[in-house]
Amino acid sequence: MPQKKQVLFISGTPGVGKSTLCKELEKFNFAHLDVGKLVKDKKLYSRYDRKTDSFVVLVKKMRNTVKKIVRTTQTNIAVDWIHSYELANLVRGGTKRVIVLRCEPLILYKRILKKYGIEKTKENVLSEFLNQISQEAHEMFERDVIEIDTTNRSPKKIAQGIIKDKFKPGKKIDWMKKYLNDKQRLNMLFKVVEG
Ligand SMILES: Nc1ncnc2c1ncn2[C@@H]1O[C@H](COP(=O)(O)OP(=O)(O)OP(=O)(O)O)[C@@H](O)[C@H]1O
Ligand SMILES: [Mg+2]
Repeated sequence: MPQKKQVLFISGTPGVGKSTLCKELEKFNFAHLDVGKLVKDKKLYSRYDRKTDSFVVLVKKMRNTVKKIVRTTQTNIAVDWIHSYELANLVRGGTKRVIVLRCEPLILYKRILKKYGIEKTKENVLSEFLNQISQEAHEMFERDVIEIDTTNRSPKKIAQGIIKDKFKPGKKIDWMKKYLNDKQRLNMLFKVVEG
């Protein structure tokens, strides 16, 4: 019997490494659906918001477009989007995995400063510290969420782990809790976010 198509929802704070991971997954014959790019290319937004430096996404349109692409793609597919709760319920059944990539906030800062500039970087580091994207995923998908700590893992290793089904659901990473037990790290984070 032919194997069922796998659908991965790769979510996480901006800059955590979603697209880099999806590029690695392409080597294992996963199609890569970069939803941020799709939103821009197909104009699935109402306007550009200068204040937040981002597009205001037309979520319903985005969902319909992603649904169509996922349905018509013949191969396994990795859907690359920040918020899993906006898309992952488009697919039902055991062939999907909801993945949230995580990164230690101070390491994330170093990783993304060049790409995003200081203001966006601070915003993303704070969001990762507050576990926002993972929390919203857990609220919707509860024990099905697979969190992967990318801090000391190369994108290649993460892709191999996913293929071998090495990462299991149920684990929750809580940076706030970790930092509260480590005053030095907490002070460094305050400096970064306030500085
Ligand atoms: N596992 C990793 N280890 C070290 N650096 C990484 C890792 N994954 C990604 N990076 C680096 O982090 C930066 C951001 O990666 P990437 O663009 O893939 O993030 P993203 O989650 O797709 O961001 P966005 O939400 O803005 O699309 C890149 O410079 C990339 O090389
Ligand atoms: Mg990306």
